[in-house]
Amino acid sequence: MKKIQELFDLSGKVAIVTGAAMGIGKGIALRLAEAGASVIVADINIEAAKKTTEELKAAGYKAKEVQANASKVEDAEKTAQTAVDVFGDLHILVNNAGIFPFAPALEMSESTWDKTIAINLKGTMFFAQAAARMMCSKGHGGKIVNIASVDGFHPTGNLIAYDASKGGVIMLTKALAKDLSPRGINVNAIAPGAIVTPGASAGLSGMSQKEIEAVTKMFISQIPVGHQGEPDDVAKAVLFLASAAADYITGSILVVDGGYLVG
Ligand SMILES: NC(=O)c1ccc[n+]([C@@H]2O[C@H](COP(=O)([O-])OP(=O)(O)OC[C@H]3O[C@@H](n4cnc5c(N)ncnc54)[C@H](O)[C@@H]3O)[C@@H](O)[C@H]2O)c1
Repeated sequence: MKKIQELFDLSGKVAIVTGAAMGIGKGIALRLAEAGASVIVADINIEAAKKTTEELKAAGYKAKEVQANASKVEDAEKTAQTAVDVFGDLHILVNNAGIFPFAPALEMSESTWDKTIAINLKGTMFFAQAAARMMCSKGHGGKIVNIASVDGFHPTGNLIAYDASKGGVIMLTKALAKDLSPRGINVNAIAPGAIVTPGASAGLSGMSQKEIEAVTKMFISQIPVGHQGEPDDVAKAVLFLASAAADYITGSILVVDGGYLVG
């Protein structure tokens, strides 16, 4: 039986985190690196990705930034190849990159719909495919963790494309688990609730301070633990699913929402 320290030790493992420049992705990159993994900080925003990589390196961790658009199949392949070129292998993929444009059903545009589905759902599929192919070619399994959302179970409202994309990520996670688990690749998802991030704050940017306070109060009143989450709340759950402690878990959706869905 492995000791607890061994279960969570990711030394020698190589991980890709998409959308890792800031927010939840950055929190995930930090925890995986702290556990010993070499981390590819993949993000469309290369300047911010470089900054995050520098922070990781300054803390003594191994990291490399890659400019990658989650919606591009060729960027998925490039990112998996970079992991092998720079760190020699690939064991963990965290599909975190995502956008959440506010758009009610009657105002949804084709371009917003296509972009949201392309980044959140198609991106999750093809980054998983590229990573799984690389893991198989290296002759071992691995761990894939997809960041879904409570919106995949329960629509917040005015987030039509987002809700559909995250519902898709939840079923995609189960389908990938069925296909890839016989190859030793566990595929799971996390469904976060309200997490304070740059992206979540930007969603409130058109509002006055008073409106922001009212909306925040309303959100918090729906969360049984009484406060919003931080990126690290999601990162700790990712660390678990990426570790040997979760070797017998695949096709699961772990809700990290302070009780919102049962509230
Ligand atoms: N913040 C929340 O409350 C919350 C709740 C549930 C789920 N999530 C999910 O968590 C994930 C991260 O959310 P966040 O709040 O940290 O977002 P964020 O906007 O704060 O950060 C997102 C990161 O993804 C990058 N990104 C955006 N588009 C990209 C693309 N096409 N390719 C590569 N990178 C791209 C951004 O540059 C940024 O670094 C998303 O999938 C989101 O849907 C967030």
